[in-house]
Parts: sequence; structure tokens; C-alpha cells
Amino acid sequence: MQTQRFIVDMRLVFASNNAHKLSEVRAMMPSGIEVMSLRDVGFEAEIEETGSTLSENSRIKAETVYEWLQAHGNPLGTDGVFADDTGLEIDALGGEPGVYTARWYKKEPVIPLPEGKEPADEKMIFRANRRKALTALQGKDERGCQFKTVITFIKSAPSHPEGKEITQVEGIVRGEIAREEYGEGGFGYDPLFIPEGYDKTFGELPPEIKNSISHRARAMEALANILKCTK
Ligand code: IMP
Repeated sequence: MQTQRFIVDMRLVFASNNAHKLSEVRAMMPSGIEVMSLRDVGFEAEIEETGSTLSENSRIKAETVYEWLQAHGNPLGTDGVFADDTGLEIDALGGEPGVYTARWYKKEPVIPLPEGKEPADEKMIFRANRRKALTALQGKDERGCQFKTVITFIKSAPSHPEGKEITQVEGIVRGEIAREEYGEGGFGYDPLFIPEGYDKTFGELPPEIKNSISHRARAMEALANILKCTK
């Protein structure tokens, strides 16, 4: 991702508390733009992702937080809200798990969990999801897949009929699902995802590489281009 210079300072809320995503997004955001988490602005509710596409879920998250900030008078004077939603789409499975990526291990056919009980934390959920991916592709040579991220950005626009302007951008990285887990870096499916042009997983590659070629990096680059002309 190219570094860009901004002549304005901006303060944006990222509609997430996921520490991994926050650190990636902060590393990708051009200087001059401060990224605040939901915790930073005092938003504590659970946002239900009830959409049937990544685009809908990304918009639900961004709109929920935007409306909440408006209702609370936007005390920190933030300039906008953005949210991302990501899906892993596996070619041999017709694009599954897609919108079910976060909790794939729960979706039919349910595989026996390694610990034999419900995952107790995020790390265990990630592990259960990766087991599901390896089981679903067992014995298959077709391993192609992609990560897709949709980012929704909302800013206040008093002259707009809705009083706000909503923009969506997306980023995709193609790759393959490895035959076993490699590396401890990143999060989620990273130890299984080998990006095109590399022979290591995102779990093994340095974060600087992931952050320059990933689905999120590409969507963030598109967002940065929009922010350049905003305000
Ligand atoms: P979310 O809806 O954007 O939170 O992402 C859904 C799920 O996709 C997460 O719970 C992770 O399992 C997975 N995921 C999202 N981004 C990444 C990534 O950068 N690497 C690996 N897995 C990811």
C-alpha cells in the first residue's frame, strides 16, 4: 500500500473492538487520521450481524455505530465511522463459508471440536474454524480461495437527503488453503491462508507483508483514496 500525505487531520471510529483488526487498520491508515475503537468512544452493545451478505453486515455495523454517536451528540467530535466485514470464500465449496466465516465451526456439517466442548475464547473459535476448513477440504487438490473485505464508511452530510453519506469499498486477496497449519502470526484463518505469489501462510509471513497485500489492506487503500477527497 502506498503511503499518502493528508493535509487534514481526521478522527474516525472503527466499528470494532477486535484487537488484531485494530492494530492492522491503524498500521494501514495514513498519518493524520486517528482511528478510535468502539471501546474508546464508549460503545458497549453487541452488534448483531443479521445481513445475508458481507456488504449488508458491514453496513449494519457502520450504521449502528453512526446512529449511536449521533444520538449521543458525538461528544468526541469524530468525523465519520467505518466498519469492515470479511469472508473467506473457498472455490471448491462454492464460496463457502462466506458470510458464515466467523462461526463456521457451528454450521452444518458440524465437526467434533478438538476439546469436545464449546470454544471458550476467541483463540479456540479460530482453531475450531480452521479445523473445519481442513476437514472440509480433506483429500481435495483444489485449494483455491479468497479473502474478501467490504468496508462501509459513513460521514455526516447535512445537505444530503439522508443527512449522511455512505460509501462502500472492497478488497480481495486470492490464495490457497494449506494442507495443515503453519505459523503463529495474525489471527483467524491466517495459519491456513497462502496468498498468491508466496509459499508461506499469513501466519508465517511478517505482518508488514500481510498488511501490504491483504484483503483488508486493499479495502483500506480504497478507503484512503476516498478520505483524500473528504472534508
Ligand atoms: P469479520 O466479520 O470481519 O469480523 O470477520 C469474520 C471472520 O473472518 C473472523 O472471525 C476471522 O475468523 C476471519 N478473518 C477476518 N479477517 C481475517 C484475516 O485478516 N485473516 C484471517 N482470518 C480473518
